[in-house]
Amino acid sequence: PRGASLTDFAERIGVDVSSLVQMLFSLGEMVTATESVNDETFELLGEELNYVVQVVSPEDEDRELLESFDLEFGEDEGDEGDLAIRPPVVTVMGHVDHGKTKLLDALRNANVVDKEAGGITQHIGAYQVTAEVDGDERRITFIDTPGHEAFTAMRARGAQATDIAILVVAADDGVMPQTVEALNHAKAAGVPIVVAVNKIDKPEADPTKVRGQLTEYGLVPEEYGGDSMFVDVSAKSELNLDKLLEAVILTADASLDLRANPHQDAQGLVVEAHLDRGRGPVATVLVQRGTLRVGDSIVAGAGYGRVRAMLDEHGDNITEADPSRPAMVLGLTAVPGAGQTFIVVEDDRMARQIAEKRESRERAAMQAKRRVRRTLEDFMAS
Ligand code: GTP
Ligand code: MG
Repeated sequence: PRGASLTDFAERIGVDVSSLVQMLFSLGEMVTATESVNDETFELLGEELNYVVQVVSPEDEDRELLESFDLEFGEDEGDEGDLAIRPPVVTVMGHVDHGKTKLLDALRNANVVDKEAGGITQHIGAYQVTAEVDGDERRITFIDTPGHEAFTAMRARGAQATDIAILVVAADDGVMPQTVEALNHAKAAGVPIVVAVNKIDKPEADPTKVRGQLTEYGLVPEEYGGDSMFVDVSAKSELNLDKLLEAVILTADASLDLRANPHQDAQGLVVEAHLDRGRGPVATVLVQRGTLRVGDSIVAGAGYGRVRAMLDEHGDNITEADPSRPAMVLGLTAVPGAGQTFIVVEDDRMARQIAEKRESRERAAMQAKRRVRRTLEDFMAS
């Protein structure tokens, strides 16, 4: 892999980087853990480890696999005219205890459409709310996975789920290390940030200080002439949640062109998945393009199957899900990993073939890693 360091390599194969450094040293190569390593060095390492170092990344390999079935993940089919506006997908990030979970819960209840119906009843890892902005009803999708783990996991797999990040900062605590970390994640992903200055119900809250602190990190509030929207909220007292939803929509309208083709086979990401005793593998997916329907043949990671049923965040059965809509899917043969992709294919046969290829690759990669680890252990012991 071009530009990769020994540390990257060690992480991929699950070994201690120092053993790689030592092995190369014994072969007369001085390489530090973090510098980028050339292909020859990797090959040398490969020979020594009795293992063919993969120059192709698993992502490229999977792309080739799909291509061999005339499939492509990640591009909308058709032309401009086929694209339709889709809701923004939002992730909530921030420092420990600053109120991410509380805010996500409060936002579920701020749903203008479902208020009477009793809000959202099921935790499925993602939900959609409808906000009223300038008299229009606008939908927003929230990925409701604790922390920014899901965000990071998906990014690591090269799949971007999030359009906008809400950065929660407690007004009584101010900017903290994980605030900065979250901010950097969002920046690296090129995702616009809306700041929710939380806990303003507290007497010691100092929202002005938060604005000043974030300005130093390049996140300048609109009211200071910058281009970031800051909204003072209280997740606890459910204060200004409508303003926060409005800020998300305004940010999306101002800086993003969120469109997808709903008239094609569905593709998207697995947000969360588990094995349910009664229902078998259950996966919450986020449709990114196309429309997912009950009866579709689907591959998700190394799982496949026909969509037997779909549920929304209210636990109601749905028959289809359009772009940006989260849905709980029943009918897979195996539990896919969070952050893996799903794709609708022609029929069950094709779905099974792709899934089986992926599975045998995963198995081969695992065996190779085990072999490398054993060789390294022997080398270190000698
Ligand atoms: P982690 O998941 O541990 O990172 O925390 P979190 O960011 O999800 O914070 P959480 O929502 O669990 O809130 C942490 C604490 O702050 C809880 O005791 C909440 O009740 C409290 N809290 C959250 N929002 C507010 C708020 O707006 N006002 C007040 N007064 N307390 C809040
Ligand atoms: Mg939490």
